[in-house]
Amino acid sequence: MGSSDQQWTKKTFELNTGAKIPAVGLGTWQSKPNEVRQAVKAALDAGYRHIDTALAYGNEQEVGQGIKDSGVPRSEIWITTKLDNTWHHVVEEGITSSLKSLDTDYVDLYLMHWPSSTNPEDKKKHLPDWDFVKTWAEMQKLPSSGRVRNIGVSNFAIKNLEKLLNDPSCKTVPAVNQVELHPNNPSPKLVDYCKEKGIHATAYSCLGSTNSPLAKDQTLQKIADAKGKSTAQVLLMWGLQRGTSVIPKSVTASRIEGNFQLDGWSLTEEETKSLSSLPDRFKVCGDGWLPVKVFFGDDE
Ligand SMILES: NC(=O)c1ccc[n+]([C@@H]2O[C@H](COP(=O)([O-])OP(=O)(O)OC[C@H]3O[C@@H](n4cnc5c(N)ncnc54)[C@H](OP(=O)(O)O)[C@@H]3O)[C@@H](O)[C@H]2O)c1
Repeated sequence: MGSSDQQWTKKTFELNTGAKIPAVGLGTWQSKPNEVRQAVKAALDAGYRHIDTALAYGNEQEVGQGIKDSGVPRSEIWITTKLDNTWHHVVEEGITSSLKSLDTDYVDLYLMHWPSSTNPEDKKKHLPDWDFVKTWAEMQKLPSSGRVRNIGVSNFAIKNLEKLLNDPSCKTVPAVNQVELHPNNPSPKLVDYCKEKGIHATAYSCLGSTNSPLAKDQTLQKIADAKGKSTAQVLLMWGLQRGTSVIPKSVTASRIEGNFQLDGWSLTEEETKSLSSLPDRFKVCGDGWLPVKVFFGDDE
């Protein structure tokens, strides 16, 4: 991995189910209405074959339209969507809603968005008689229906993964854990833990998200300048070379194209190391808005 002839835009990572997730996908969180349809089409035109969405983003319908606009056959595209926190006790309704909005018969990957079974009546409260272990028990039933090819989790810290994997009701090891990963939040312990358990890690907010502080990072800028690459391209390469898939979000056609120019070059071990040891730390997605704590500071 990491050799300069690597074709990252064609690369897939094999999941514990045998399925192959394309290494680079398009993120769609915070893409405004009327922007995401054309962004999805632009990405598919540029060669992306992996789109990441969620019921909570409120854009599944537009994502589905963008896919149709592109003319790329459904069978060639990897679609990930996510079960919203207030739908944990109604998993069947959650997937039915997503498939209808996306206007597709199946998704390639269905993730539990957060390990929080939030009460739909009062989002500051957790459901009294439910938790994510029960949600997973329901999600495990989905692949046999053919409407979901793979199931996984998101925002699971080591502590919650342990709780899930050690529960007797857990028969399926999640295929994926989608978590925040970038050089200011590298979570090496979590990445290693996932690897050890056969869970593929997908890096979200891999560019540092909206108004990323990484855009001003001098170490990153120097590496990008020396290689004649954009800071975004270097961040994506850092994620790919540590074995994670990356799902950069953009609604800007030129950036969507640039973020996919990842073939035929690589970062040296020294460059990777210096990016992995930046002194600054920040997390885009905290857990303060949830009724339960889901991050415990033990993943770094
Ligand atoms: N599972 C979860 O809980 C979770 C949480 C967060 C995110 N995600 C997923 O991960 C995806 C990516 O994370 P994210 O949206 O937080 O952030 P991101 O992909 O790290 O960053 C997106 C931001 O970077 C800008 N950008 C993109 N390419 C650029 C480039 N080449 N140069 C300069 N700026 C660039 C985008 O602007 P423009 O769009 O204006 O071009 C946008 O403001 C999400 O969209 C979503 O699909 C999942």
